[in-house]
Amino acid sequence: MALYARLAGTGSHLPERVLTNAELESMVETSDQWIRERTGIRERRIAAPGETTCDLAEHAARAALEMARVAPTEIDLLVLGTTTPDLVFPSTACLLQQRLGLGECGAFDVNAACSGFLYGMSIADQFIRTGQARRVLVVGAETLSRMLDWRDRSTCVIFGDGAGAAVFEAADEPGILSTHLHANGTYADLLNTDVGVSRGFRENEPNAGLRVLMRGNEVFKVAVRTLGRIVDETLAANGLDRKAIDWLIPHQANLRIIEATAKKLDISKERVVITVDRHGNTSAASVPLALDEAVRSGRIRRGEHLLLEAFGGGLTWGAALIRY
Ligand code: ACO
Repeated sequence: MALYARLAGTGSHLPERVLTNAELESMVETSDQWIRERTGIRERRIAAPGETTCDLAEHAARAALEMARVAPTEIDLLVLGTTTPDLVFPSTACLLQQRLGLGECGAFDVNAACSGFLYGMSIADQFIRTGQARRVLVVGAETLSRMLDWRDRSTCVIFGDGAGAAVFEAADEPGILSTHLHANGTYADLLNTDVGVSRGFRENEPNAGLRVLMRGNEVFKVAVRTLGRIVDETLAANGLDRKAIDWLIPHQANLRIIEATAKKLDISKERVVITVDRHGNTSAASVPLALDEAVRSGRIRRGEHLLLEAFGGGLTWGAALIRY
């Protein structure tokens, strides 16, 4: 039985429409300077009317399958991280499974907000290590623009749409070295929606009241603290010193949060994959988008250690260490 889940291929996709900070200046009381200084974001992508999470996911997944040279029918499990599914059910994973022609493999969505891809990776790792699956497709895809209050400057400047995907396959050598997942529901109110299927929606409000609510400053502090802890946890679990990390591939929420984690790892700026300037925060899509960009640019070499991390609504957070 193979012991490890190897990263066999990556893919990503962004909608065409670019929304710049200058355009946001005409929508809410904000400035390009404020957004760049506080978040590092210059622009983000927004899905076209009618373009769904599954549409974005399909492009990303096809690219990952192609790079991995894996046929759709060879996938044993599909895990899709999203907070913005096309429908409540069928899951976006089931819709995607049908589009890709994956046969009748297991397929489900994971809702861990921005940590969705890390949660999906951890699931892939467990299924492959136990021999339950040989090839797992993990996707993070979002159309967060659909649940933003475009009058709320504290959230609408931050998020963007996109999708990223990765194929993991059974191998005798690493691969994923370890994954670490956490959540703390006592922080639920820091980043949330206050309407939903079971709680109900609000009539006479835009989008029936569905919008992202965020106490950004408090999320920021918890994020820096928890990411610092999970870096230590990941290194300790592998008996590694921080110098062993060749690349940091962080969740792209805010450049200042990324810099805090980079400082903790004492890793140079050149070794941190940054896409937040062009993508904004794409939630579950952000880590696989950054991973795909780094892999396709040829920067990352086989044998190097990649530390992936994310945090998001829940609050949830997670990390994974990969020997590429
Ligand atoms: N333009 C101009 N001013 C603004 C804007 C804006 N877009 N948004 C807020 N402000 C103002 C505030 O009103 C406040 O004004 P005041 O001092 O007069 O009250 C001031 O700027 C400072 O606000 P803070 O919220 O304290 O600003 P901060 O430096 O913390 O930056 C930010 C805000 C960017 C949201 C930051 O806190 C952050 O990135 N937090 C983390 C968010 C995050 O990472 N979420 C992640 C997960 S997402 C998911 O899981 C779906």
